[in-house]
Order: sequence, then C-alpha cells, then structure tokens
Amino acid sequence: MSASPDILKKIRTLKEKIADADYRYYTLADPDIDDFTYDKYLNELSELEKKYPELITPDSPTQRVSGKPTVNFRTVEHNIPMLSLSNSYNFEELIEFDNRVSGLLEKRNYEYICELKFDGIAISLIYSNGMLVTGATRGDGFKGDDVTQNLKTIRSIPLSVNSGKIKNFEVRGEVFICKDDFIKINEEQELKGEKIFANARNTAAGTLKLKNTDLVASRPLNFFSYYFYSSEVDLKSHEEGLAILKDLKFPVNGRTEKAKNIEEVKKFCDKIELLRDDLEYEIDGVVVKVNLLSQQEILGSVSRSPRWAVAYKFKAKEAVTKVNKIFCQVGRIGTITPVADLQPVFLAGSTISRATLHNFDEIKRKDIREGDYVKIEKGGDVIPKVLEVITEKRKKDSKPYKVPDNCPVCRTRLEKPEDEVYYYCPNYNCPAQVLGRIEHFVHRNAMDIEGLGTSIIEIFNQKGFLNNYSDIYDLYKHKKEITDTERFGEKSTDNILKAVELSKEKPFDKVLFALGIRHIGERTSKILAKNFGSIDNLIAAGEEEITKIHEIGPKIAESVVKFFKDKKNLKNIERLRKAGLKFETEKKSGNEKINENINNKIFVLTGTLEKYKREEAQRIIEDRGGRVSSSVSKKTDYVLAGSEAGSKLEKAKAFGVKILEENDFEKLIKQ
Ligand code: IVH
Repeated sequence: MSASPDILKKIRTLKEKIADADYRYYTLADPDIDDFTYDKYLNELSELEKKYPELITPDSPTQRVSGKPTVNFRTVEHNIPMLSLSNSYNFEELIEFDNRVSGLLEKRNYEYICELKFDGIAISLIYSNGMLVTGATRGDGFKGDDVTQNLKTIRSIPLSVNSGKIKNFEVRGEVFICKDDFIKINEEQELKGEKIFANARNTAAGTLKLKNTDLVASRPLNFFSYYFYSSEVDLKSHEEGLAILKDLKFPVNGRTEKAKNIEEVKKFCDKIELLRDDLEYEIDGVVVKVNLLSQQEILGSVSRSPRWAVAYKFKAKEAVTKVNKIFCQVGRIGTITPVADLQPVFLAGSTISRATLHNFDEIKRKDIREGDYVKIEKGGDVIPKVLEVITEKRKKDSKPYKVPDNCPVCRTRLEKPEDEVYYYCPNYNCPAQVLGRIEHFVHRNAMDIEGLGTSIIEIFNQKGFLNNYSDIYDLYKHKKEITDTERFGEKSTDNILKAVELSKEKPFDKVLFALGIRHIGERTSKILAKNFGSIDNLIAAGEEEITKIHEIGPKIAESVVKFFKDKKNLKNIERLRKAGLKFETEKKSGNEKINENINNKIFVLTGTLEKYKREEAQRIIEDRGGRVSSSVSKKTDYVLAGSEAGSKLEKAKAFGVKILEENDFEKLIKQ
C-alpha cells in the first residue's frame, strides 16, 4: 500500500512533535506535554510505521530503541583526532599555562571560555545531510568504536536537525550518568545480585559498550556537547560554536562562562569547586579554552594535547592506604557484607578508616587481601570504595582472602543461594539479625521511635525484655527495671515510652516498611500499602496478584509471600496489631484528595519548618499526589523552605525553581 500525502504529513508532524517534546523535556527541562500525550504520539507513529515500513527513516524517534542486539562494534576513524587535555592541579600551574599562552600569542588580547569538566565518556557525533549517521567513542583518539545505536537511545541527542544552512557537521561532548541515577542503578544491580559499578563514569562507559540496546535504553544516559565543527561554517570562536550547538538544539551546559584573564578563571574554578557536590552529575574539574579559533591555531598542540586548553583538576577524591583487616558485617536479614578496615587516611574533607567491599565476588574480582595497599575513592554521597589494589606494594607471603565458613556473630554455617552473589547467615536468632531488625523498625524512616538508639536496644536486649520488635510495645511492663538501669532516670524512661506510644499513629505503609521484609524499601511499601489497603489483603495475595502491580517484580512478590508464610512473622504481626498499630490504609478525608497544585509535582524540603515535622510535610504532599525528592534539580517544581535553609535554597534560586515559605505551602494545600 502506498501512503497518501495525508499519511506522509501525519508522520512528519508526529516526528516533529516527539522530537520537540524530547528537546523540551531532556534539554530544556521544561516539558509542555504530559507522558500520556507523548506515549500517544509515539504509539500513533509506530502504528503508521508498521503499516508503511518503507517510510521508517533513521531519524524516526521509534528508532531510538532498536530491540536488536549489536553484534560487534565497528571501528571508525575520527576525521580530526580527539585530543586529550593537559592537567593542572593548582593555581600556580594555571598561571604557567596562561604565561605560555600569552608568550605564544605575543601579547595579543585573548579571552578564555571556562567549562565544567564532566566526568563521563567523550563521544563524537557525525551528521550528514542533517541526519545523525555515526556516533563513536574516543577510543585511542584516532579510532573509536561505532556506538551509534546506543547513542541514539539518549533523547537529548537530536537524531536530525532542521537548520536551513548547516547540514554536515561534527559534534563532540560527554556522555554521563547523574549521581542519583547511578545510585539507583547500583541499588538495582544489588537487588538483582549483579555486579556493582565503581562509579557513574564506569557505568556510563560500560553502558555504551553494551550489546543489548534495550538495556542501554533503560539506563538514563545524559549528554552535554562542547565542540562543533563544520566545513560549512566559518567559525570565529569557541563561544560561537557553543551558540550554534544551542541553536541546533544540542544540550550545552549552562554554567559555561567567559573569563577575561586568568584571575577570572581562578574565580570560576573556586566557585565551581564549591558547587561540585551540589551538582546532579560528577565533574572532576574545569576546562579552560582560548576562545578565538585563530588564536587556537597559533597555539597548536603538542603530544596530543592542545596548547590552547587546559584542565584544572579539583583535589583528588582518591587516596592510597593499607587494608589492615577484612571483617564481615551481618545485616538484619542475614546478608554478610565484607568491610575493609583501613589505615585512616584524610580524603576530600574527612578521615576514612573503612570502606565497603560489597560482596565476596568483588573481593575475588579485585583480589583484595589483608595487608594490601589499595586505591580508595570517595564519590558524591557514597560510602568510600576500594577501586584497585596496588599490586607492586603487595607482600610476597600474602594470601588471597578466604570467604569465612561461619557467621562471625553466631558461628552458624553461612549459605549462598545459587543465583545470588551474597552469602547469608540463616540463623533467624543470630544476635546481629535480632538487633538489626529492631534497629530497622525504630528507624526514623520507619516507626521513628526517638530515644531507642542502638546502644539502648542492646542494653534492653541483654536484660532480656527486647528480643524482637513486637516486644517494644510491652516495654511499659518493664518500666521499673528500665528506670533502675544506670543511665536511665524516670524522665528518659517516660520519653522512650511516650515515643513508643506515639509511633502507634504511624500509617500502614510505614508499619509495612518497618517489618523489614527483604527487598521492600520505603517506596515499595507505599505502593503495596496503596494497592492492597490492608495487611490482611496482602497476606492473602499470591505472587501472581502482587506481580500484577506496576513497578512490582517477581523478586519482591516472592519475598512478600515468603515473609508471610513464616509463623514467627505472623505472630509478631498479631502482637503489633493488638498493641494498636495500623495495618490498614486510612480512608482519606475530603481535603486529602488529589490536589491539582500538588499532584505530580516534585517538592524538595529544606530548612526547619515551624508547624510540621519533615515527615508530616512529606505525607501531606504525597497524600495529594506529589513527590518529595532529596535534591534540587531542573525538574523540581517547588522548594519548601523553612528557617536556616542552606545550599538547596541557593540551588533553587540558581535554577529558578519556585520557592515556597510555610504559609505559601498552607495556601497551596487548602486551595
Ligand atoms: S574538550 C582537546 N571540554 O576531558 C579538547 N573535554 O582530557 C578535549 N571532558 O576526552 C576535549 N569535559 O572526555 C573538553 N568541557 C569539556 C570537557 C572535556 C570533560 C573530557 C573529555 C576529554 C577529556 C580530555
């Protein structure tokens, strides 16, 4: 069947609408259509393309996900070599760089462009006749891998451009993964019992080299462009190149600044270093580039680094230290986590004496041994990690680390499910698990029982009246014993008992989370509580029914069913129910219905609120269909700021996010 002009026009319009929606969402962070409309356009287009497959073009948005595995990555030669940058680590070295530039330019006037140095993977994109034809990695600078199909999954990379004049050009830039997304990816890897990535950069690199394009599409890769070249344009400056990139709808980082001299460069570097931890993505420095291309040409390059640019690298977040010992921690569900006890070392603002080794596979893969010297890294908010062993410093008589046979706490023989990387202590009564379950139950994000800290739980446990979390609600029976305990007076005992009483008001989803079911985090608890409405419904549900819920996979369903099969757990639940805990979601009163001001909006809370505890404010928002996020980004709709709000407020101002004070918030709720 050949397509009528109407069909052709329809297809063209749909492609334009989708490309525009991608641009607005991913590059401008200012969407103007909702997910539903977007999916509708995409479905319509894909239906039409099924009918008229001859009309599928490589720049169709349906081609972002091919579904076909890549067989082998072809090698591509770069038209212009992809150079690397020489580094400078302090201001003196920046001045040396500037002196060299000024000498070679024989005192002509020059300016710098200062950009962030994104910690990702450099790529090159070739557009021919306005269409993206090749996307490649940097490789050795001369030849890289053709990863076009994987790059096409990045929605901020235009598949075609419709500028009238410029049709053949090359764009270079950095592919990266945001810090939050990296943490999520690793959480998922851990849940699936798969390999943990060392950092966001390695995750991005690994993702670009995946042969399964569906898996690539599921990983949130991002892109910033920083280089433009076309024989069709007579570019005068780097700045102009960035402006063209922006016009062509490529994402260009908004923090780029022009500097008139090296002092201004320094100011920029200092400013960015302070901002570093607040950025959504990892950077490892600033890139300083001479602006005029004619001057870049005079300066030229030596040994594969241009003399017109330099990277100012921030203080290292890596250090080398010794592994004194490898010991194991036992989690509340019995998971054994090996931890490195390190020779204390100062790194990016704090002293580090421990690093997680994740699991025994990781130790084996990196061959980490007691007594080894290792390179450690501290990234973003994450716990320090061991990157690699400095094998040259290894003692001759060192022996590979051996996985212990028994639980370090209760000596029970460890078990390892075949399809997982983790070892477990199978003893439910293992003291580490007993205490871990109670600690989780009272945690701020669960039942929030203030005053019942780890050391107090241990004391009560030793005294024999706190052996599992349902005992918490019988603590009042031991009031005299508690008051008589050293450290406790009448007042602190009363405070604990009051906090216990108060916790009975916690909603069902918090109670569900507090139970400590494996794989059930805060978010999953909310989803389950909302969908099932009560613990009895959840207990009655089978795996199949649970898996039917959007976002709930078989692993979670299996774990829920297994938990409720266990008589010990059911007995605990009954005791908690008798104590008066909530095992049903509360019926919403009239004003808690979805509020359009709040529904689907992303809030960030900062500072101290007067009338609400943070959790209360969060609940109010979530009850009305909103979401609370921990960090401010371009996607944030509102920042609710209390007194003494800090960097989040600054960031909100910088992003132009709407800031609400407590009374604005109240008005919004009531509207
Ligand atoms: S310009 C010769 N600009 O740094 C010009 N590179 O060591 C080199 N990078 O391979 C590229 N942010 O992966 C440039 N704003 C930026 C950059 C940047 C990160 C990376 C890139 C490159 C490496 C050079």
